[in-house]
Amino acid sequence: LDNGLMRTPPMGWLAWERFRCDIDCDHDPKNCISENLFMDMADRLAEDGWRELGYVYVNIDDCWSSMERDANGRLQADPKRFPNGIPHLARYVHDRGLKLGIYGDFGTHTCGGYPGTTLDKIQTDAQTFADWGIDMLKLDGCYSNATEQEKGYPLMSQALNATGRPIGYSCSWPAYQGGLPPKVNYTQLGEICNLWRNYGDIQDSWSSVLNIADWFFTNQDILQPAAGPGRWNDPDMLVIGDFGLSFDQSQTQMALWAIMAAPLFMSNDLRSIDARSRTILQNKGLIYINQDPLGIQGRRLIKEQSGVEVFWRPLSNDASALVFFSRREDMPYRYQTSLKKLNYTAGVYQAYDVYQEKLLPAFKDSTDFVVSINPSGVVMWFVVPTKQMMGDGKLFGGDR
Ligand code: DGJ
Repeated sequence: LDNGLMRTPPMGWLAWERFRCDIDCDHDPKNCISENLFMDMADRLAEDGWRELGYVYVNIDDCWSSMERDANGRLQADPKRFPNGIPHLARYVHDRGLKLGIYGDFGTHTCGGYPGTTLDKIQTDAQTFADWGIDMLKLDGCYSNATEQEKGYPLMSQALNATGRPIGYSCSWPAYQGGLPPKVNYTQLGEICNLWRNYGDIQDSWSSVLNIADWFFTNQDILQPAAGPGRWNDPDMLVIGDFGLSFDQSQTQMALWAIMAAPLFMSNDLRSIDARSRTILQNKGLIYINQDPLGIQGRRLIKEQSGVEVFWRPLSNDASALVFFSRREDMPYRYQTSLKKLNYTAGVYQAYDVYQEKLLPAFKDSTDFVVSINPSGVVMWFVVPTKQMMGDGKLFGGDR
């Protein structure tokens, strides 16, 4: 969507995967969906180095609203859990240099059973969100059918635009239509939405992360061309820092999401995240690659018999990113290949190992090399033709 927003994939935090529809603030005050939770996360984003790296969205998901609209037909936050209201929360977030996202559902109800946005409510809700100072809307699609969605999603895009407030627009529409043509029209999505959920919900497990990655790369011929500045495929939240992924699997999710030019919305508890997960999520090379201004989504190049897969994403200034991923379950696998076998032809290259944070000596595209890939882990490289590697290997400390 050409609204000037999200020219690189949006980054931030989103409540759903980690905090779901926990509304029991009496018994679980720290984790329930309430203004306190979002203020806590805003504090963490602002104070723990996340904001400077680009993680600026604080996003509310389902179960924030009251069960009823107000007397004027407007949505309202649950008064017990959001006693100061959403405008106050928006100010709190903005005061910390962050942006506030909210959740709506095109349909009679949200998936969690809260008031939805039917066709007749689209303008009202868009205006309410704008009046509140909202910066992004995720529009879910429970309790509406395909015919209604065909009207509703474009109408909300127009309605948001008509408010005059810049509001990023995330559409769950394709996920409700199976994610593939002919039911899904990616040209149209790129015109009306800034990002869109193509596929099912992520869960806190490796099987879920793998299932999602497999679906996106299996369908890359359809999905890859749909992405670009202002319009992104969304394979769903990062679950790094939660309970389901090992260290290597966490590195894999981050690497593949960077290759996919995916939005980076963490859904974890930033108040208690462990140091290793934080290091992965705050890796400057990973973020630099994810945020490349060309905005070209990457692809899977090779699926080897051995269980190794190679992914590639072209970046600005003739650079590129490579990910070597192993689906094996035995031991670190020594994968031998050369850049030539991966379609590189510019002669001599240098590679920077993004997780090891080490610059490797220059080598020819024809020279075989070996990478050792842990089970369900990755090796990730940032590759440039030799002349362009900056002096000391400190590639990502600069001004972007
Ligand atoms: C379905 C969406 O895909 C999820 O991300 C989440 O928003 C839930 N609905 C909320 O009910």
